[in-house]
Amino acid sequence: MIKIIGIMAATPEGIIGKEHALPWYYPEELDYFRHLTQGSLMVMGRKTFEATPPDLFKDHPPLVFSRNHPLKRLPNHLAFSSLEDFLSWCPSSPHKEMFMIGGAEIAHLFLRENVISEFLLTKIHKSYSGDTTLDLTFFETWEKKILTSNLTYTTLKLQNPKETLI
Ligand SMILES: NC(=O)c1ccc[n+]([C@@H]2O[C@H](COP(=O)([O-])OP(=O)(O)OC[C@H]3O[C@@H](n4cnc5c(N)ncnc54)[C@H](OP(=O)(O)O)[C@@H]3O)[C@@H](O)[C@H]2O)c1
Repeated sequence: MIKIIGIMAATPEGIIGKEHALPWYYPEELDYFRHLTQGSLMVMGRKTFEATPPDLFKDHPPLVFSRNHPLKRLPNHLAFSSLEDFLSWCPSSPHKEMFMIGGAEIAHLFLRENVISEFLLTKIHKSYSGDTTLDLTFFETWEKKILTSNLTYTTLKLQNPKETLI
């Protein structure tokens, strides 16, 4: 059994990305992300993989969802062409938990199929324009706990009220 924890940052409107990058630059929020995910297994969509600095994956090969793109950037990664493919691989992993780091396509797939038990969501206070949106309505029934808050953003821990699939 692996616990899957989502970790992403979004504006009040759910904007998470712009032109293959984050629409904002908050170094402290990036440190928070790195601190929590350091040493852990991470699963993501191909576009997020390509937008992420490779040093983030120095501890474990990244788990990347892609239907058809050859992933050349890192020799050491695992690619999955479907959720079924990924779910059948999971029991072979010795890990007890992993982080789902985005982007929206993979987050929506995991949320729709109810495989995420907990979500660490950073709510950016300011609105930014962008081209990629996380559908925040998924969390309407999730229990919310504020972890930290400052002038720029609030970090939340959201708990899935339903039993997850894995
Ligand atoms: N704010 C945040 O916390 C945060 C976090 C992560 C990313 N982002 C931003 O979000 C944007 C990228 O997000 P995105 O939603 O466009 O892309 P994404 O989820 O990172 O990746 C999408 C890709 O995943 C693959 N994929 C999707 N569904 C699949 C399935 N069912 N089976 C197998 N593969 C599947 C496809 O890859 P192929 O095309 O290779 O088939 C698809 O093109 C960027 O701007 C990034 O900077 C923000």
